[in-house]
Amino acid sequence: MAKKHGSKKLWMPPEGEFVEYEPWQRLTLTRVEADTRSQLAPRPRRLDHSLSVARTAEHLATLYGVDSYLARVAGLLHDWDKVVPRDELIARARRFGIDLGVPLEKVEPLLHGMVAARELPQRYPHLPAEVWHAIACHTSAAQDMGPLDMVLFVADGIEPLRRESDGIRKTRELVGKVSLEDVFWNAFVGGIVYVLEGGRYLLPRTIDIYNSLARTRAHERRERA
Ligand SMILES: [Fe+2]
Ligand SMILES: [Fe+2]
Repeated sequence: MAKKHGSKKLWMPPEGEFVEYEPWQRLTLTRVEADTRSQLAPRPRRLDHSLSVARTAEHLATLYGVDSYLARVAGLLHDWDKVVPRDELIARARRFGIDLGVPLEKVEPLLHGMVAARELPQRYPHLPAEVWHAIACHTSAAQDMGPLDMVLFVADGIEPLRRESDGIRKTRELVGKVSLEDVFWNAFVGGIVYVLEGGRYLLPRTIDIYNSLARTRAHERRERA
């Protein structure tokens, strides 16, 4: 049952929030967490971030009626390939045929999720495709964002260890007050604003994703009216 929060920090995973899992789910969560701790051991802050994303994703999933087990697993594994050196990551992306319409060197920071989503199914064949889709699009978003994708994308952006910016504060404040779609939209647009304001490179495909999502939202608004 979702909890109601009155404070400004309602986006934070409440201390001691308890989600009941089946024994087989507990086993998988324990194994995946141990694997993640080992994989990310060379990058302790990245490990802390991943554990925090997992808790935040689990909380968001509970709040919005999404599968909290899958959300937690996706959160644990989403930055699995952050320890892969840049040139090696680009080489792996090329081997997998990942094509973002621009030289992969330009978009290297976006590749770790897409590469992990192609590598990890061999390691965890019992996990469903939804987990890999969420991990694949956690850096760039996609035109076909489902609830689990949105949960992971938002959790990655607002987990408590992430330093607050105006955009992140706004997204955190919306959690629990508006729909998951609206929280995601806010996080997605906030991410684009961050890229533009910092003079950073914006992946051309992001504009297509923005236009597609904006069209869908406008359509849904008309349907509701
Ligand atoms: Fe990431
Ligand atoms: Fe992350």
